[in-house]
Amino acid sequence: MCGIVAYIGKQDAYPIIIKGLQRLEYRGYDSAGVALLNGTLNVYKKAGKVSDLAEFVKGKNIKGHVGMGHTRWATHGEPNDRNAHPHFSQSRDFAIIHNGIIENYASIKAELVKQGHVFESDTDTEVLIHLIEEIYNKAGVPLEEAVRLALGEVVGAYAIVILSSSEPDKLIAARKGSPIVVGIGKDEYFVASDATPIVEYTKNVAYLNDGEVAVIDQGKLTVKTIGNEIKIPFVQELELKLEALEKGGFEHFMLKEIYEQPRSIADSMRGRFDSRAGRIKLGGLREFEQRIVNAKRIMIAACGTSWHAGLVAEYLIEDLARIPVEVEYASEFRYRNPIIYEDDVLIAISQSGETADTLAAVELAKSKGATIFGVCNVVGSSIPRATHAGSYTHAGPEIGVASTKAFTAQVTVLTLLALQLAHKRGTLSESRFRQVLNELESIPAKVERALTSNEKVRAIAERYKDARNFLYLGRGYGFPVALEGALKLKEISYIHAEGYPAAEMKHGPIALIDDEMPVVVIATKHGSYEKVVSNIQEVKARKGKIIAIVTEGDEAVKEMADYVIEIPETDEILVPLVSVIPLQLLAYHIAVMRGCNVDQPRNLAKSVTVE
Ligand code: G6P
Repeated sequence: MCGIVAYIGKQDAYPIIIKGLQRLEYRGYDSAGVALLNGTLNVYKKAGKVSDLAEFVKGKNIKGHVGMGHTRWATHGEPNDRNAHPHFSQSRDFAIIHNGIIENYASIKAELVKQGHVFESDTDTEVLIHLIEEIYNKAGVPLEEAVRLALGEVVGAYAIVILSSSEPDKLIAARKGSPIVVGIGKDEYFVASDATPIVEYTKNVAYLNDGEVAVIDQGKLTVKTIGNEIKIPFVQELELKLEALEKGGFEHFMLKEIYEQPRSIADSMRGRFDSRAGRIKLGGLREFEQRIVNAKRIMIAACGTSWHAGLVAEYLIEDLARIPVEVEYASEFRYRNPIIYEDDVLIAISQSGETADTLAAVELAKSKGATIFGVCNVVGSSIPRATHAGSYTHAGPEIGVASTKAFTAQVTVLTLLALQLAHKRGTLSESRFRQVLNELESIPAKVERALTSNEKVRAIAERYKDARNFLYLGRGYGFPVALEGALKLKEISYIHAEGYPAAEMKHGPIALIDDEMPVVVIATKHGSYEKVVSNIQEVKARKGKIIAIVTEGDEAVKEMADYVIEIPETDEILVPLVSVIPLQLLAYHIAVMRGCNVDQPRNLAKSVTVE
């Protein structure tokens, strides 16, 4: 969602900020703006893309060694120039950029209006900078203190940066519930919502904790709590590489990330098992391993694609480790008064590690005494910091909004977790355990082979790019894949698509089938293959068009289907990792052919930091 980048140092701030905003585009946004401090405070902002902002700024005064920029994903107020950040205070001597939501902004605003404040936007953010100025003037305190006092009055989540022409050469940032990372260079500092805009300048970063305020003044960084307690920032080295943020010759980040999967799956497995010795070890379980092994029940909380990975995990853990699992939409879980016992385990799955609802689900389960295990991709993000134990997926930065390599990395780690639990609980025979480990080793190569279906998938995309609806069907391990395939298509091509358990089709979606309806079926040769074949026939009998994902060499489905895409044979429990590949490619090609913005689909955000 919204993105933040700010700079204070000896270089010109504008080029660093505008480039930083481009790096942040992947998060999803609908307007952008910058503020530059050079004696006066100049603010430029525009609805639309960062390139529209850069065009608008041409010829304007962009001088300044201190500045900040923002990409906004609208929550309060429509995405127009007025509501874009930065926002000025009443006197226009102070400006703010903000990620998050100030929940009690209406009551603060009403009070400020009584005192003569006039607001230019519909945002909650503008209210906060007016409040800071009001305190600054009335209490006669330094800016830093005015910020702390104002933050003491607000309810909600925020990551903010504040500049003021009253106290130039100073930059103030604060966080609660929304991340802020400070990059420490030589005589210069960078502040951002994630490390992507910082990595090309410095590897030394410090993450602010909730309730902390950073003041960068006279080349010095000071961190305090809102309650004025000094904190020593923990400086760590970034592992992120700049190349990971570039397209590397691909037309889109999404395609690059789809093609990275043989490597990202291998990276997510590396060092975690030894098939010859029949050993498996997820180091992140730490001292909580026994509690998870002995869990009476596991709950999984996640959103979007991560929720689909959670569904795969439910099938795996119940099937292999025989522990009952419930998969919950984090947004529902947190508000529906769920029953949580102290001996429950909650697995939180999140690529970004910042999804507000998933984080809230973690906090809720933690407050009830449950053990929390995280499966996240972004190192140092909020969810892994809030969990007891966890395993990172090693997918590398995922820039395309539609998640691809993060999904397969999550499924890889969750497969290892299910196997480790099963092994420890003795619910899997040694020979079956070793057989799965052996097969797991061959998955990166099989994913590589699945990618060779690209040209065939492109031809299918050409045929169906103008369809208005798609149905995706699967049974067993193929069902979560059907859901994920449908989600990919609707996210980036804006075609309505539904994923369904193949047998459940009879209870509704079958009414939609006519000779226009493409139906994608996961029909690999496993447990319910024969039943899926029957479901294909039910679709064909109603003249629907079948695009079947089949095991290499399958002739029977070829006879019935309009198109088949072959994938290498693998163990049933590993099918999601291979069968999802052609579905990602199908969504990608259809979206490209329809002229959609594949990497930044409309209205979507990469990390959803508001509920
Ligand atoms: C957004 C993204 C999805 C993602 C979901 C959950 O909707 O567009 O791609 O699956 O959030 O995000 P998380 O970072 O928690 O996995």
